[in-house]
Amino acid sequence: MADKESIARLLNGCRDEIQAKSPKSLSIWQGNRAVMPAGVGSVFRLADPFPMMVKRASGTRVWDADDNEYLDFHLGFSVMILGNAPEVVQDAIREVLPHGTHYGQCHEHEYPFAKLFCDMVPGVDKVAFCNSGTEATMYALRLARATTGRPLIAKFEGGYHGTHDLLAVSLGRRPPTPELTGMIEDPKAVPESPGLAEGAWKDTIVLPFNHPAAFDKILRHADQLAGVIVEPVQGAGGTIPAGKEFLSELRRITAEIGAFLIFDEVITGFRLAPGGAQEFYGVIPDVSTYGKVAGGGLPLGALGGTAEAMRLMEYDVEPGSILMAGTFNGNPLVTAAGTAVLQRLSQDPELYTRMNAMGERFRSEINRFAEENDYPAQAIGVGSMFWMHTVRGRIDSIRDLHRGNASANAGLKLLYRKNGLHCSINHAFLCAAHTDEDITQLIETHKAAMEELRAHGVW
Ligand SMILES: Cc1ncc(COP(=O)(O)O)c(C=O)c1O
Repeated sequence: MADKESIARLLNGCRDEIQAKSPKSLSIWQGNRAVMPAGVGSVFRLADPFPMMVKRASGTRVWDADDNEYLDFHLGFSVMILGNAPEVVQDAIREVLPHGTHYGQCHEHEYPFAKLFCDMVPGVDKVAFCNSGTEATMYALRLARATTGRPLIAKFEGGYHGTHDLLAVSLGRRPPTPELTGMIEDPKAVPESPGLAEGAWKDTIVLPFNHPAAFDKILRHADQLAGVIVEPVQGAGGTIPAGKEFLSELRRITAEIGAFLIFDEVITGFRLAPGGAQEFYGVIPDVSTYGKVAGGGLPLGALGGTAEAMRLMEYDVEPGSILMAGTFNGNPLVTAAGTAVLQRLSQDPELYTRMNAMGERFRSEINRFAEENDYPAQAIGVGSMFWMHTVRGRIDSIRDLHRGNASANAGLKLLYRKNGLHCSINHAFLCAAHTDEDITQLIETHKAAMEELRAHGVW
């Protein structure tokens, strides 16, 4: 039986300890608040009891403004696959830096980056660069609509594809009810922000993730559907992998109705395998979107696809090409940093074997511990992507996560931070620099946190 007072004592005790060890983070954030909305550059940086202010990051560690050291499984939201501040990226940036940080023109660093990109990813013959994952998914939808001449886009409930109006829909954050979110077989489109243009999100239909009813809904809209966008592993939605058969059927059915299959590989790209989720699952989309890892720690977005799918981006020869432009697209520092990372990843495929094995070790040890000790918790994910959820039973979609224990979720996040783990919310990542000792620490910190939650009556 949960003892509310004991749980509150635990959570507040953690908050007090975090505050006591990081007063500078708190005061910097309070200063920020005077001049930045909510004192943060992105809503996902807000944290209980206040955001961490990072002072520096190196390898598998980050240090906050108070010089507290954390073992890093956040990795800048998955970006730093070689660890923080890798030498190869520093060298690449140093080489380009004296020649200028920005031209707004073509330059010689684009080709090696684009060539490596296309060589590594099976479904990418051509790639266009922009500045964020949000931009990339926006362009992918535009390309799908322009190519097919159809108005509708389908996304999955729980899928996160950035913040633009077309896809800021049905992130699955709210507890499912028939009135608000619809039944699982036929989720409603739920706008995730005031201020979205109705004409944008109302052309987005929402599908159930890992559920066969998705295919029926696609067929019901077949002649109106321009494309289906899917994260092969829903990242922000809870690190929930799509089934391989599910992705294969999605491929078959979109091809059959002449709609684009768009893989949002902003997280999975160059992370699950050198060729991303499409290589890992052996399912090749028409186009895919990138960001994160591919930019080597500098801001990047990219849209890649088969030559046929990318036809309406051949602006100079194709009538009816889409509008795609950007002052900073293909910035020389970004392309140099990205090339350095892709080179390293392509030269050392063993690095994936090691990262994936460490992910597997974490999941299997935590799940064994949870089962043996009857904790209602489980670690899920795939490869180097992982998260521990406070639910029992199968997790197929974000709806399953709403069965979780809110106090346990809050407590775990506070205990990670108090005990020196740096994680995101709902998704965490491994990098090539992590060692077996780091994974042992990750596992032991999780086990201790579970025990502490139980001792305070959370479970
Ligand atoms: C799968 C996915 N797509 C798109 C985005 C948006 O990318 P960005 O934050 O670079 O705009 C994200 C960001 O987390 C993401 O996880």
